[in-house]
Amino acid sequence: MICDYEGSDYKTRFWQNADRAYEDAVERVALRRMLPEKGRRIVEFGAGFGRLAELYTGYEEIILLDYSRTLLEQAQERWGGDPRFKFVAADIYHLPFAAGVMSAATMIRVIHHIEDVPAALQQISRAIAPQGKFVLEFANKRNIKSMTRYALRRQKWNPSQPEPFEFVKLNFDFHPAWMLEQLRLAGLKTERTLAVSYLRSGLLKRIVPVALMVYADAVLQLTAPLGLLSPSVFTLNSRASVSDESADGQAASGDDIFRCPRTGQKLRRDGDLMVNEDGLRWQARGNFFDFKEPV
Ligand SMILES: C[S@@+](CC[C@H](N)C(=O)[O-])C[C@H]1O[C@@H](n2cnc3c(N)ncnc32)[C@H](O)[C@@H]1O
Repeated sequence: MICDYEGSDYKTRFWQNADRAYEDAVERVALRRMLPEKGRRIVEFGAGFGRLAELYTGYEEIILLDYSRTLLEQAQERWGGDPRFKFVAADIYHLPFAAGVMSAATMIRVIHHIEDVPAALQQISRAIAPQGKFVLEFANKRNIKSMTRYALRRQKWNPSQPEPFEFVKLNFDFHPAWMLEQLRLAGLKTERTLAVSYLRSGLLKRIVPVALMVYADAVLQLTAPLGLLSPSVFTLNSRASVSDESADGQAASGDDIFRCPRTGQKLRRDGDLMVNEDGLRWQARGNFFDFKEPV
């Protein structure tokens, strides 16, 4: 099942009309620390309205992928004039990419909506080139607040248990050890972690200037090797395994990076369509590709 943001007011409700300047800023600090500044081709999985897209502008090609066409259209309004950008409506469980085409990838605030993490990470890993980088953010179930609540018997579920905790339908918190193991099983080697958003509190936001909170968070992020108890965790991963099919993926250019999300077949461009060998057709208007449903 997919957490569907089609038609959602996520941009205004969650970011613009809410007090989240601190969260936005500290996520940028973490991403800047982990993501190589420059590279051939980057994709953000679940990019939404492209909140973080300016951090990718050191790359030659930038792909924003999301299941929500409406959010992607908002991203296109902001970034569509830059010829390096492609906007791809697709499902992470059925990615429309050839193997090994991405030099870097990110996924921020998305995996908490994914109920089959191993399946999603397999798809993502396959799209990344050997030695390519993947920055993954996930919501940490073993955070200070949940640990304290459990210790005081204000919460029944045990944050130290490894399995994902679904606190609302299609919203999961994860144990760091469990998530790192899933990354490993998908052929992604975790090189670094950052403990992000320790200061996420309504009270602190009211009394401490944002700039000071961001500064303190930037220091606290580096405590990750001592233990991960923050509500959000950033991981930097490297695609470890090298398979023949992905070895020269980065050399693909233009529309050659795409594959049919249903069959994996090559696609050819025919005007505003991408067509597979069986005649299945997907809409492709300019730099906006729609791989949700065939037309
Ligand atoms: C909380 S938003 C985060 C957006 C963006 N990463 C950010 O941090 O601003 C979650 C996003 O994940 C996308 N998403 C959830 N499940 C997905 C799936 N199976 N395939 C593609 N996108 C998905 C949603 O459409 C939504 O835009």
